[in-house]
Amino acid sequence: MTFQTDGIVVKNERIKPLYFLLTIYCPSMANEIKTGQFIMLKVSDGHFPLLRRPFSVYKSYPADHPEKKKRGCLLILYKKVGKGTQKMTEFKKGQKVNMIGPLGNGFSLPPLPSSTDIILIGGGVGIVSLFSLAEVLESHKLFVFIGGKTKDDILCEEDFKKLNVSKILIATEDGSMGNKGTVIDLFLSQKKRFKKSKSLYIYSCGPVEMLKELARAVKFKGVVCQASLEARMGCGFGACWGCVVKTNDPKTPYQRVCKEGPVFNLKDIVWE
Ligand SMILES: Cc1cc2nc3c(=O)[nH]c(=O)nc-3n(C[C@H](O)[C@H](O)[C@H](O)COP(=O)(O)OP(=O)(O)OC[C@H]3O[C@@H](n4cnc5c(N)ncnc54)[C@H](O)[C@@H]3O)c2cc1C
Ligand code: FES
Repeated sequence: MTFQTDGIVVKNERIKPLYFLLTIYCPSMANEIKTGQFIMLKVSDGHFPLLRRPFSVYKSYPADHPEKKKRGCLLILYKKVGKGTQKMTEFKKGQKVNMIGPLGNGFSLPPLPSSTDIILIGGGVGIVSLFSLAEVLESHKLFVFIGGKTKDDILCEEDFKKLNVSKILIATEDGSMGNKGTVIDLFLSQKKRFKKSKSLYIYSCGPVEMLKELARAVKFKGVVCQASLEARMGCGFGACWGCVVKTNDPKTPYQRVCKEGPVFNLKDIVWE
Protein backbone atom coordinates (compact mmCIF):
# COMPACT_ATOMS: atom_id res chain seq x y z
CA MET A 1 0.00 0.00 0.00
CA THR A 2 1.23 3.50 -0.86
CA PHE A 3 1.82 5.90 2.02
CA GLN A 4 3.55 9.18 2.81
CA THR A 5 6.21 9.27 5.46
CA ASP A 6 9.32 11.00 6.76
CA GLY A 7 12.76 9.47 6.77
CA ILE A 8 16.00 10.70 8.32
CA VAL A 9 19.12 11.30 6.26
CA VAL A 10 21.94 9.09 7.51
CA LYS A 11 24.51 9.88 4.83
CA ASN A 12 24.69 11.76 1.53
CA GLU A 13 28.02 11.21 -0.16
CA ARG A 14 29.44 11.99 -3.58
CA ILE A 15 30.66 8.76 -5.18
CA LYS A 16 31.56 10.06 -8.66
CA PRO A 17 31.71 13.59 -10.06
CA LEU A 18 27.96 13.72 -10.81
CA TYR A 19 26.65 10.84 -8.67
CA PHE A 20 25.65 10.70 -5.02
CA LEU A 21 24.62 7.94 -2.66
CA LEU A 22 21.90 8.94 -0.23
CA THR A 23 21.12 6.76 2.79
CA ILE A 24 17.77 7.41 4.47
CA TYR A 25 16.55 5.71 7.63
CA CYS A 26 12.91 4.89 6.97
CA PRO A 27 11.95 1.43 8.28
CA SER A 28 8.34 1.52 7.05
CA MET A 29 9.42 2.12 3.43
CA ALA A 30 12.37 -0.29 3.66
CA ASN A 31 9.94 -3.02 4.73
CA GLU A 32 7.44 -2.41 1.95
CA ILE A 33 9.26 -1.46 -1.23
CA LYS A 34 9.74 -4.18 -3.88
CA THR A 35 12.26 -4.44 -6.65
CA GLY A 36 11.46 -2.06 -9.53
CA GLN A 37 9.10 0.15 -7.52
CA PHE A 38 9.98 3.75 -6.77
CA ILE A 39 9.39 6.63 -4.37
CA MET A 40 8.52 10.29 -4.94
CA LEU A 41 10.91 12.33 -2.83
CA LYS A 42 10.30 15.87 -1.62
CA VAL A 43 13.56 17.57 -2.45
CA SER A 44 12.95 20.94 -0.83
CA ASP A 45 11.23 22.31 2.27
CA GLY A 46 10.29 25.43 0.35
CA HIS A 47 8.12 25.83 -2.72
CA PHE A 48 10.93 25.34 -5.19
CA PRO A 49 11.08 22.89 -6.80
CA LEU A 50 7.46 22.24 -5.96
CA LEU A 51 7.13 18.80 -7.51
CA ARG A 52 8.54 15.70 -5.92
CA ARG A 53 11.10 13.71 -7.91
CA PRO A 54 10.91 9.97 -8.67
CA PHE A 55 13.71 7.65 -7.55
CA SER A 56 14.27 3.93 -7.61
CA VAL A 57 15.56 2.37 -4.46
CA TYR A 58 19.04 1.01 -5.04
CA LYS A 59 19.11 -1.07 -1.87
CA SER A 60 16.67 -1.51 0.97
CA TYR A 61 17.25 -3.18 4.29
CA PRO A 62 13.98 -4.43 5.80
CA ALA A 63 13.57 -5.37 9.46
CA ASP A 64 14.62 -8.98 8.89
CA HIS A 65 17.74 -8.14 6.88
CA PRO A 66 20.82 -10.08 8.07
CA GLU A 67 22.92 -6.89 8.27
CA LYS A 68 21.45 -5.62 11.55
CA LYS A 69 23.17 -2.23 11.52
CA LYS A 70 21.62 -1.36 8.16
CA ARG A 71 18.07 -2.42 8.97
CA GLY A 72 15.50 0.25 8.18
CA CYS A 73 17.68 2.03 5.61
CA LEU A 74 17.02 2.87 1.97
CA LEU A 75 19.80 3.76 -0.44
CA ILE A 76 19.20 6.04 -3.38
CA LEU A 77 21.90 6.46 -5.99
CA TYR A 78 21.22 9.67 -7.88
CA LYS A 79 22.72 11.76 -10.62
CA LYS A 80 22.80 15.53 -10.30
CA VAL A 81 21.03 16.70 -13.48
CA GLY A 82 18.97 19.73 -12.55
CA LYS A 83 17.42 21.86 -9.83
CA GLY A 84 15.83 19.06 -7.80
CA THR A 85 18.84 16.79 -7.68
CA GLN A 86 21.03 19.84 -6.95
CA LYS A 87 18.86 20.44 -3.85
CA MET A 88 19.34 16.81 -2.86
CA THR A 89 23.12 17.23 -2.81
CA GLU A 90 22.54 19.70 0.05
CA PHE A 91 20.75 17.10 2.26
CA LYS A 92 22.53 16.87 5.61
CA LYS A 93 22.83 14.04 8.13
CA GLY A 94 19.89 14.11 10.57
CA GLN A 95 17.63 16.07 8.23
CA LYS A 96 14.04 14.89 7.72
CA VAL A 97 12.99 14.00 4.18
CA ASN A 98 9.46 13.27 3.08
CA MET A 99 8.56 10.59 0.56
CA ILE A 100 5.57 8.85 -0.99
CA GLY A 101 5.82 5.20 -1.88
CA PRO A 102 6.05 2.41 -2.71
CA LEU A 103 4.84 3.43 -6.17
CA GLY A 104 4.25 1.60 -9.42
CA ASN A 105 4.46 -1.99 -10.45
CA GLY A 106 7.94 -3.38 -10.19
CA PHE A 107 9.58 -6.23 -12.07
CA SER A 108 7.64 -9.46 -12.16
CA LEU A 109 9.47 -12.61 -11.31
CA PRO A 110 7.85 -15.52 -13.10
CA PRO A 111 8.98 -18.98 -12.05
CA LEU A 112 11.81 -19.52 -14.50
CA PRO A 113 13.57 -22.84 -15.09
CA SER A 114 17.18 -22.71 -13.91
CA SER A 115 18.28 -23.23 -17.57
CA THR A 116 16.95 -19.76 -18.46
CA ASP A 117 19.67 -17.21 -19.08
CA ILE A 118 18.79 -13.90 -17.48
CA ILE A 119 20.24 -10.70 -18.83
CA LEU A 120 20.20 -7.37 -17.09
CA ILE A 121 20.88 -4.30 -19.23
CA GLY A 122 21.26 -0.93 -17.55
CA GLY A 123 22.13 2.38 -19.15
CA GLY A 124 23.52 5.18 -16.95
CA VAL A 125 21.63 5.55 -13.70
CA GLY A 126 19.12 2.96 -14.98
CA ILE A 127 21.33 0.20 -13.66
CA VAL A 128 20.34 1.25 -10.12
CA SER A 129 16.88 -0.28 -10.38
CA LEU A 130 18.34 -3.59 -11.57
CA PHE A 131 20.60 -4.21 -8.60
CA SER A 132 17.95 -5.35 -6.13
CA LEU A 133 16.56 -7.55 -8.90
CA ALA A 134 19.95 -9.21 -9.33
CA GLU A 135 19.97 -9.99 -5.60
CA VAL A 136 16.62 -11.77 -5.98
CA LEU A 137 17.68 -13.65 -9.13
CA GLU A 138 21.12 -14.65 -7.90
CA SER A 139 20.42 -18.38 -8.19
CA HIS A 140 20.08 -18.06 -12.00
CA LYS A 141 22.73 -17.64 -14.65
CA LEU A 142 22.95 -13.85 -14.76
CA PHE A 143 24.66 -11.67 -17.35
CA VAL A 144 24.90 -7.99 -16.49
CA PHE A 145 25.45 -5.33 -19.16
CA ILE A 146 26.32 -1.88 -17.82
CA GLY A 147 26.55 1.10 -20.13
CA GLY A 148 27.30 4.79 -19.90
CA LYS A 149 28.66 7.72 -21.85
CA THR A 150 32.04 7.63 -20.06
CA LYS A 151 33.68 5.62 -17.28
CA ASP A 152 32.25 8.09 -14.78
CA ASP A 153 28.76 6.89 -15.72
CA ILE A 154 29.49 3.23 -15.00
CA LEU A 155 27.75 2.48 -11.74
CA CYS A 156 27.32 -0.42 -9.33
CA GLU A 157 29.98 -2.62 -10.93
CA GLU A 158 31.65 -3.43 -7.60
CA ASP A 159 28.32 -4.37 -6.00
CA PHE A 160 27.41 -6.68 -8.88
CA LYS A 161 30.83 -8.33 -8.53
CA LYS A 162 29.90 -9.30 -4.96
CA LEU A 163 26.86 -11.19 -6.25
CA ASN A 164 27.07 -14.56 -7.92
CA VAL A 165 26.72 -13.23 -11.49
CA SER A 166 28.13 -15.16 -14.47
CA LYS A 167 29.50 -12.17 -16.33
CA ILE A 168 29.60 -8.38 -16.15
CA LEU A 169 30.05 -6.63 -19.48
CA ILE A 170 30.72 -2.91 -19.73
CA ALA A 171 30.39 -0.43 -22.58
CA THR A 172 31.13 3.27 -22.75
CA GLU A 173 30.35 5.51 -25.69
CA ASP A 174 33.78 7.19 -25.53
CA GLY A 175 35.66 3.91 -24.95
CA SER A 176 37.08 5.06 -21.59
CA MET A 177 36.02 1.77 -19.99
CA GLY A 178 35.04 -1.63 -21.42
CA ASN A 179 33.88 -1.86 -25.03
CA LYS A 180 33.58 1.30 -27.08
CA GLY A 181 29.98 1.93 -28.14
CA THR A 182 26.57 1.67 -26.61
CA VAL A 183 25.53 -1.06 -24.23
CA ILE A 184 23.10 -2.31 -26.89
CA ASP A 185 25.96 -2.60 -29.42
CA LEU A 186 27.72 -4.73 -26.84
CA PHE A 187 24.64 -6.85 -26.23
CA LEU A 188 24.23 -7.36 -29.99
CA SER A 189 27.86 -8.46 -30.28
CA GLN A 190 27.03 -11.22 -27.76
CA LYS A 191 23.61 -12.09 -29.16
CA LYS A 192 24.80 -15.32 -30.83
CA ARG A 193 25.76 -16.71 -27.44
CA PHE A 194 22.25 -16.15 -26.12
CA LYS A 195 20.42 -17.26 -29.27
CA LYS A 196 21.49 -20.81 -28.39
CA SER A 197 19.49 -20.64 -25.14
CA LYS A 198 16.02 -22.16 -25.24
CA SER A 199 14.57 -19.17 -23.45
CA LEU A 200 15.95 -15.80 -22.59
CA TYR A 201 14.72 -13.31 -20.07
CA ILE A 202 15.87 -9.69 -20.22
CA TYR A 203 15.34 -6.96 -17.65
CA SER A 204 16.38 -3.47 -18.58
CA CYS A 205 16.32 0.14 -17.50
CA GLY A 206 17.79 3.17 -19.14
CA PRO A 207 17.15 6.19 -21.34
CA VAL A 208 14.44 6.04 -23.97
CA GLU A 209 16.93 5.86 -26.87
CA MET A 210 18.55 2.80 -25.30
CA LEU A 211 15.21 1.04 -24.80
CA LYS A 212 14.14 1.84 -28.37
CA GLU A 213 17.34 0.26 -29.66
CA LEU A 214 16.81 -2.72 -27.39
CA ALA A 215 13.25 -3.19 -28.63
CA ARG A 216 14.61 -3.48 -32.17
CA ALA A 217 17.39 -5.82 -31.06
CA VAL A 218 15.32 -8.41 -29.22
CA LYS A 219 12.88 -9.36 -31.92
CA PHE A 220 13.92 -12.99 -31.90
CA LYS A 221 12.05 -16.07 -30.73
CA GLY A 222 11.85 -17.03 -27.09
CA VAL A 223 12.80 -13.65 -25.66
CA VAL A 224 10.85 -11.85 -22.96
CA CYS A 225 12.01 -8.36 -22.07
CA GLN A 226 10.74 -6.30 -19.17
CA ALA A 227 11.82 -2.68 -19.18
CA SER A 228 11.57 0.00 -16.53
CA LEU A 229 10.77 3.29 -18.27
CA GLU A 230 12.00 6.72 -17.31
CA ALA A 231 9.47 9.55 -17.64
CA ARG A 232 9.03 13.04 -16.28
CA MET A 233 6.48 12.80 -13.52
CA GLY A 234 4.06 15.27 -11.97
CA CYS A 235 2.26 13.38 -9.23
CA GLY A 236 3.77 9.87 -9.37
CA PHE A 237 0.55 8.12 -8.39
CA GLY A 238 -1.70 8.17 -11.44
CA ALA A 239 -3.62 11.44 -11.04
CA CYS A 240 -2.18 13.87 -13.60
CA TRP A 241 -1.59 11.69 -16.68
CA GLY A 242 1.65 13.59 -17.24
CA CYS A 243 3.73 10.46 -17.73
CA VAL A 244 1.83 8.46 -20.34
CA VAL A 245 3.41 6.14 -22.84
CA LYS A 246 1.77 4.72 -25.97
CA THR A 247 1.14 0.99 -26.00
CA ASN A 248 -0.24 -1.40 -28.58
CA ASP A 249 -3.09 -2.49 -26.31
CA PRO A 250 -6.24 -1.29 -28.16
CA LYS A 251 -8.21 -1.12 -24.89
CA THR A 252 -5.68 1.10 -23.11
CA PRO A 253 -3.49 2.68 -25.79
CA TYR A 254 -2.03 5.16 -23.31
CA GLN A 255 -0.74 3.92 -19.99
CA ARG A 256 0.81 5.79 -17.09
CA VAL A 257 4.45 5.07 -16.38
CA CYS A 258 3.90 5.81 -12.70
CA LYS A 259 0.81 3.65 -12.25
CA GLU A 260 0.67 0.82 -14.81
CA GLY A 261 4.51 0.93 -15.01
CA PRO A 262 7.28 1.85 -14.60
CA VAL A 263 7.94 -1.73 -15.70
CA PHE A 264 6.38 -2.80 -19.00
CA ASN A 265 6.84 -5.64 -21.38
CA LEU A 266 9.05 -3.98 -23.98
CA LYS A 267 7.09 -5.42 -26.90
CA ASP A 268 3.94 -3.62 -25.68
CA ILE A 269 5.44 -0.14 -26.06
CA VAL A 270 4.90 1.92 -29.20
CA TRP A 271 7.92 4.17 -29.68
CA GLU A 272 7.17 7.48 -31.34
C1 LIG B 1 10.62 5.52 -11.97
C2 LIG B 1 11.84 6.41 -12.01
C3 LIG B 1 12.96 6.07 -11.26
C4 LIG B 1 14.10 6.90 -11.28
N1 LIG B 1 15.17 6.51 -10.53
C5 LIG B 1 16.26 7.29 -10.53
C6 LIG B 1 17.41 6.92 -9.76
O1 LIG B 1 17.41 5.89 -9.07
N2 LIG B 1 18.47 7.75 -9.78
C7 LIG B 1 18.49 8.91 -10.54
O2 LIG B 1 19.49 9.62 -10.53
N3 LIG B 1 17.44 9.27 -11.27
C8 LIG B 1 16.33 8.50 -11.29
N4 LIG B 1 15.24 8.90 -12.03
C9 LIG B 1 15.33 10.15 -12.78
C10 LIG B 1 15.09 11.33 -11.80
O3 LIG B 1 13.77 11.30 -11.35
C11 LIG B 1 15.37 12.64 -12.50
O4 LIG B 1 16.73 12.72 -12.86
C12 LIG B 1 15.04 13.81 -11.58
O5 LIG B 1 13.64 13.90 -11.42
C13 LIG B 1 15.57 15.10 -12.17
O6 LIG B 1 15.18 16.14 -11.35
P1 LIG B 1 15.90 17.56 -11.43
O7 LIG B 1 15.00 18.55 -10.79
O8 LIG B 1 17.30 17.45 -10.92
O9 LIG B 1 16.01 17.82 -12.99
P2 LIG B 1 15.15 18.85 -13.83
O10 LIG B 1 15.67 20.23 -13.54
O11 LIG B 1 13.69 18.59 -13.66
O12 LIG B 1 15.60 18.39 -15.28
C14 LIG B 1 16.98 18.42 -15.66
C15 LIG B 1 17.20 17.53 -16.89
O13 LIG B 1 16.91 16.15 -16.57
C16 LIG B 1 15.91 15.64 -17.45
N5 LIG B 1 14.99 14.78 -16.65
C17 LIG B 1 14.31 15.16 -15.54
N6 LIG B 1 13.57 14.15 -15.07
C18 LIG B 1 13.77 13.11 -15.89
C19 LIG B 1 13.29 11.77 -15.93
N7 LIG B 1 12.40 11.31 -15.05
N8 LIG B 1 13.73 10.98 -16.92
C20 LIG B 1 14.59 11.42 -17.83
N9 LIG B 1 15.09 12.67 -17.84
C21 LIG B 1 14.70 13.51 -16.89
C22 LIG B 1 15.19 16.85 -17.99
O14 LIG B 1 14.65 16.60 -19.27
C23 LIG B 1 16.28 17.88 -18.05
O15 LIG B 1 17.05 17.73 -19.23
C24 LIG B 1 14.10 8.09 -12.06
C25 LIG B 1 12.99 8.43 -12.81
C26 LIG B 1 11.87 7.61 -12.80
C27 LIG B 1 10.68 7.99 -13.61
S1 FES C 1 2.99 11.30 -12.92
FE1 FES C 1 0.91 11.84 -12.62
S2 FES C 1 -0.12 10.25 -13.64
FE2 FES C 1 1.95 9.62 -13.76
